[in-house]
Amino acid sequence: MKNNRLVIISYRLPFSIKTKNRTTTVTSSSGGLVTAIKSLELGTASQKPLWIGCADFTQRTWDNHKHEVNDDFEYVPVFLDKATNKGFYNGFSNSVLWPLFHYFPSYVDYHDEAFKAYQAANQTVCEKVVELLQPNDMVWVHDYHFLALPQLIREQAPEATIGFFLHIPFPSNELLRLLTRQCRTYLLKGLLGADLIGFHTNDYLVHFLESIQLNLGLSHSLAKIPYQDRFVQGQAFPIGINYDLYHNAFDQPDVATERDELKATYAGKIIFSVDRLDYTKGVMQRLDALEAFLEAHPDWKGNLVFILVVIPSRDEIQTYGERKQMIEQAVGRINGKFATLTWVPIVYRYASLRFSQLLALYTACDVAMITPLRDGMNLVAKEFIASRQDEQGVLLLSELTGAANELGESLLVNPLDEYEVAEQMLVALTMPPDEQQRRMRVMQQRVREYDVKQWANDFFDRLLATRQGKRLGH
Ligand code: UDP
Ligand code: G6P
Repeated sequence: MKNNRLVIISYRLPFSIKTKNRTTTVTSSSGGLVTAIKSLELGTASQKPLWIGCADFTQRTWDNHKHEVNDDFEYVPVFLDKATNKGFYNGFSNSVLWPLFHYFPSYVDYHDEAFKAYQAANQTVCEKVVELLQPNDMVWVHDYHFLALPQLIREQAPEATIGFFLHIPFPSNELLRLLTRQCRTYLLKGLLGADLIGFHTNDYLVHFLESIQLNLGLSHSLAKIPYQDRFVQGQAFPIGINYDLYHNAFDQPDVATERDELKATYAGKIIFSVDRLDYTKGVMQRLDALEAFLEAHPDWKGNLVFILVVIPSRDEIQTYGERKQMIEQAVGRINGKFATLTWVPIVYRYASLRFSQLLALYTACDVAMITPLRDGMNLVAKEFIASRQDEQGVLLLSELTGAANELGESLLVNPLDEYEVAEQMLVALTMPPDEQQRRMRVMQQRVREYDVKQWANDFFDRLLATRQGKRLGH
């Protein structure tokens, strides 16, 4: 891609700029998408990639604070009006697509106005992309906020090279068909504006191919779909992480100091989890499993601590606000039930972590308990594996994550089965060091070999190759 400038589009920019009590602060955004893209070293001094995203600040704030963000990318914030942003982000994206694509149909809260806002926001972002587009640019659209965008861009720039990557599961058509016919047709045709559509796993790709067959009557051969006068290629690209960043952090002085502090504070075994506040992450079921474990194995009371970190996310949406209350009630109840005057089982924190804190926890814990009910990939699992230079620690992982496909040497569990999870907790807590090492080594090799750069390069190579054979008959 030497001569191709990259134009990235995602809802979230890698920073958030918030003003409270007249003080403005620039903070890092959370989540796997941002972690992945910001760790790619894509630009050259003469040609930086463009990153277009939606602003959570005003134009004036941007003018005053843009010098405070890193200059790895040329950032282009799009300023949506408040109502459009609300309907687009809180409404259709996170109260319809997110729950539906993660198999939570009962959490779907559909409103026509929100769907209209989604269409309007995709159109506004399209205008910005087209305004900035240069010949030879490679457009890379990310995630469920912009399912319609590839086709909108294609209509105005028929020759553009457009890739799309979905960071969440693509569900079975049984879920997709719950949307109105008009809505699902619009979304699927929107995606087909891309030359290449990437998913984390083959299962998601198969679901997509089935959906376009059942809803649009389109067939494919080896995931190559003849559409209008072009071919559209679908493919699985399991996202990776910046392996070296997490692996080499083990010896970083701040990480080592914070790890020592944790180990000195907690004498027994440490179980750890970190997720954004989200019903898909299975925190309530994880707490049920901990309770079942302490009931079944009272000898572990006083000999372990569960450090539960929840990162604030989407808290304006009712289902998220409620989730926070449910988690806090459960933590209080379980601590009240099992705590002694000198020990509590759960240490709970509702906040983002600094990199050094996160890495200290990854490397201090005995067990990482990562048990989402659904997760497109789950980068935390891969970061934990990469961070363990000492080749110790056990990963207890939900089989309903994309990461489970690549991390078969972890202890795989059904997160809904609290007794199975409790049983595997015991296996994890008592696993001999040589077995921990054996499993860790195999997983480290796999995570190292297919890192985030490899993921992006494979995507770009395939996108350019698809373009070369783009016209039907070629
Ligand atoms: N993370 C973060 N802030 C924190 C702690 C973690 O941004 O305070 C990162 C974490 O390192 C990981 C990402 O958030 O890269 C979570 O990605 P994952 O794929 O596990 O889940 P997602 O949040 O994207 O659903
Ligand atoms: C997931 C989504 C991303 C999103 C992230 C954080 O990883 O796939 O698109 O950015 O969660 O969620 P938020 O709503 O805060 O951007």
